[in-house]
Amino acid sequence: MNDCKETDDTVDQIVRKILSSPKYRELGIPKESVEDIVKREVSRQTDIKVAEKKAREKLHQVVAPYLGDPDYRSAGTALTQIHRDDREGLKAWCLEMLRSHSSTRERLPNLELFYQTVFEFTGKPNTVLDLACGMNPFAFPWMGLEPSVRYYAFDLHTPRVNLINRFFDAWGLQPLATVTDVLVQVPQTPADVAFFFKEAHRFESRRKGSNRAFFQQLSVKWIVVTLPAENLTGRHQMRDRERMLIEKTITGLDWEISETEVGTEMIFFIRKYE
Ligand SMILES: C[S@@+](CC[C@H](N)C(=O)[O-])C[C@H]1O[C@@H](n2cnc3c(N)ncnc32)[C@H](O)[C@@H]1O
Repeated sequence: MNDCKETDDTVDQIVRKILSSPKYRELGIPKESVEDIVKREVSRQTDIKVAEKKAREKLHQVVAPYLGDPDYRSAGTALTQIHRDDREGLKAWCLEMLRSHSSTRERLPNLELFYQTVFEFTGKPNTVLDLACGMNPFAFPWMGLEPSVRYYAFDLHTPRVNLINRFFDAWGLQPLATVTDVLVQVPQTPADVAFFFKEAHRFESRRKGSNRAFFQQLSVKWIVVTLPAENLTGRHQMRDRERMLIEKTITGLDWEISETEVGTEMIFFIRKYE
C-alpha cells in the first residue's frame, strides 16, 4: 500500500515538473498523456532519474515539436482579419498553416489527388474523425467535402486545437476539434471514416502493440492509415517495415485491407464493417 502511494507520489511529482517546464507549459498537453507515459516508465525502471529521462524522451516523440509549428498567436490574428466570404484569402492562410508542419507540408504537392484517392475508396463521408490531426484539418478546403460534414479533430496541443476550431468556424463548419489523447481516451463517436495519418509508427514506439486495441475500439467503417514511405531526409525507404506494422496490427481480424501510395505517403484502407 505504502509502495503504491510512494509510486503515485513519484509519478505525480514528475508529471507536475514536466507540465510546468518551459517546453510544455504553453502547450496545454492533457495531464493524462503525461501521466500515462510517466507511469509506464516508472514501472519499468528502478532508477527514478532514468524513468524521468525516458518519459521526457517519449513525450518529445509524441508531441514532436521538431515537425514544426506556426506562431499560433499571430496566425489567429491574421485569421480574424480575413472576411468569411473571402474563400481565396482563407485558403491562402490555410496553405501557410499546412506549410508550417512537415507532415502536411509533404502532402501539399498532391493534396487534391490525396483526398480524391481517399474518398474514391471510402466514398464521401458525413462524419470524419481526424485522429492525431496535427495541422491536417486546414486541408479541409481541398477535401471536396460539404460544410455539413461533421469533422471531429483530435490532438494533444491546445493552441493548435483552438486555432483549428477558429478556422472551422470561419469556414462554416462546426467547431468539433478537441484536446484529447486518443490513445488514453479512444473517441467513441460513430463515423464513416477515421483518418490516422503518419502516427501509427509513433503509437507503436510509445506503447508497443497499441494500434490493434486502438483500431478495435473505434466505431467507424473505414480507418485510413497513412505512413511515410521514406524517412524525413528521403534517404531511407521504409515501405516493408510500415507494411509489416499494419499487417501485424490487424492480423487475425476479419477486416479487409487495401493499399495505395500518393507522393511519398503509403495509404492503407482498413474496412472494419458494413
Ligand atoms: C506526425 S503529426 C501527424 C499530423 C497529421 N495526422 C498529419 O499527418 O498531417 C502528429 C500529431 O499527432 C498529435 N498526437 C500525437 N499523439 C497523440 C495522441 N495520442 N492523441 C492525440 N494527438 C496526438 C501530435 O500532437 C501531432 O500534432
